Amino acid sequence: MVSVAVLGAAGGIGQPLLLLLKLTPGIARLNLYDIVNVPGVATDIAHINTNTKVEYFIGQSQLHAALQNIDIVVISAGIARKPGMTRDDLFNINASIIYELTEAIAKSCPQAHIAIITNPVNSLVPIVAQVLGKNYNPQRLYGVTTLDSVRASRFVRDIRPQIDATELQVPVIGGHSGNTIVPLLSLARPKLDLSAKDIEELVNRIQYGGDEIVKAKEGAGSATLSMAYAAAKFIASLVEAFKGISKVEYALVPLAADPQGAQYFRRLGAGTLEFFAVPIQLGPDGIQRIVPLEAQPSLFELKAIDIAARELQDNITKGTTYKS
Ligand code: NAI
Repeated sequence: MVSVAVLGAAGGIGQPLLLLLKLTPGIARLNLYDIVNVPGVATDIAHINTNTKVEYFIGQSQLHAALQNIDIVVISAGIARKPGMTRDDLFNINASIIYELTEAIAKSCPQAHIAIITNPVNSLVPIVAQVLGKNYNPQRLYGVTTLDSVRASRFVRDIRPQIDATELQVPVIGGHSGNTIVPLLSLARPKLDLSAKDIEELVNRIQYGGDEIVKAKEGAGSATLSMAYAAAKFIASLVEAFKGISKVEYALVPLAADPQGAQYFRRLGAGTLEFFAVPIQLGPDGIQRIVPLEAQPSLFELKAIDIAARELQDNITKGTTYKS
């Protein structure tokens, strides 16, 4: 049975994510950590009659206790976007929060799997890798990009209502903001029949889907419910993988997790990047394998990969050169 800590548990993502994790089989313990409001959230969630034990921890003095004997740490702590902001605008505040939380993880549960939801994912995952130092295990670090493929399959259904959105798999690689998000609609399964115009519009909508929510919430934040669903899906796959039921998910990961598998994506356009969103086969020890694509992407997609790689390099450098 698996123990999960959610850092940022009382937030817009944290709360619905906990609700879904409380319903996820295989999770024995949920440790909720935040700097505010977490007692109420934990007490509420704890009344749901599944067997998962819920405990809360509030404020920095309880952070180490929250991380004791934890297998998976999910981080959604930080600030979210307001209208007019890019994910990059969140960098300064969220980088310092992630830095401090990772220092605590390195001390209290250095072997834990770490899933980063907080934005900008493209820059924060490299910070986590740096701060972990000698404890860094590239097979256990994930930037959660699941929402991009969740959106992709749903947005396709908006223009092709005969398609079952829950069955449609759209590979989305690269990174997790704007141009760095590269949906590979040509490799969707089942296969899609889309015009060049459909593809261009869908790609743009998937890349900037987050902005639709930021605008609709009028200053009250960004994706929370759909994000919680996406993160819960990713964590459920990881929990299943611990039991030996291997799953493939997409995440922004260190390519060092599987240098051999990474070669395919390096040739495809990732070049010398250290981090890239790729399909990963999850196993009991985390990333078992970086899985090559089933076929060569279209020329349009290859161009998008090039653009993404350039922007992603800047985002990664911002993370690797960050000092707290
Ligand atoms: P929110 O503001 O509702 O919640 C953030 C929570 O973090 C708050 O409860 C706050 O008290 C807590 N927090 C702040 N500093 C902390 C610290 N030092 N230690 C522990 N907790 C701390 O924000 P929301 O909507 O939950 O979003 C969280 C993050 O997730 C944002 O950075 C947002 O951009 C990102 N996000 C990521 C997505 C993805 O696809 N990866 C999608 C949508 C949002």
